[in-house]
Amino acid sequence: MTLDLFGPPEAGIDPTPPWREDIAPGAVLLRRHALAGMDELLAALAAVAAAAPFRCMVTPGGLAMSVGMTNCGALGWVSDCHGYRYAPCDPDSGRPWPAMPPAFARLAAEAAAAAGFAGFAADACLINSYAPGTRLSLHQDKNERDLRQPIVTVSLGLPATFLFGGPRREDRTTRHLLTHGDVAVWGGPARLHFHGVLPVREGDHPVLGPRRVSLTFRKAG
Ligand code: SIN
Ligand code: FE2
Repeated sequence: MTLDLFGPPEAGIDPTPPWREDIAPGAVLLRRHALAGMDELLAALAAVAAAAPFRCMVTPGGLAMSVGMTNCGALGWVSDCHGYRYAPCDPDSGRPWPAMPPAFARLAAEAAAAAGFAGFAADACLINSYAPGTRLSLHQDKNERDLRQPIVTVSLGLPATFLFGGPRREDRTTRHLLTHGDVAVWGGPARLHFHGVLPVREGDHPVLGPRRVSLTFRKAG
């Protein structure tokens, strides 16, 4: 992780690792922010995925999503033929989702605070696993009760291009390459902005293998 800590010294970007990039009012990238404490984060991720394996959920329209998903925390995001919702139990096992690992909760709260959202206490963490070729189309996160709470996502493994737009689907989007350890936070005026992930390119990450994993923290209930 040594070389990776030193990002490109582009104009206007503080090259001191980790560094921040403001991408819209209310939206910020905290570059390499999750590298410190990564071992604990990955161990917790493995434990969650063992207890609640990744699966491809079905959209309300009946199509299987290409991205593998699981959850931890009091509430998990689920999709099926009835729609999208947050549920306390894993529909595959009937058991509660694995508890939010302390390392996850700490990182989410600390990243939110660094982005200007103090007091963020996530009760839901959606974990996405993107094999090369898979993507997440442009969408809004709007199933959460309190829209004053931000969204925090942590990128792990293969890089991916994150699209960040505006409040309307047709708004112009900006592209941001997210790499292992990057954290994105959006809230306030950007809370309902459309966003998505372009198809992940082929690759083999030294730690996570041929996939990108994202942890998306929300206060859902
Ligand atoms: C999401 O928007 O739900 C996830 C974004 C990501 O994978 O970075
Ligand atoms: Fe989202």
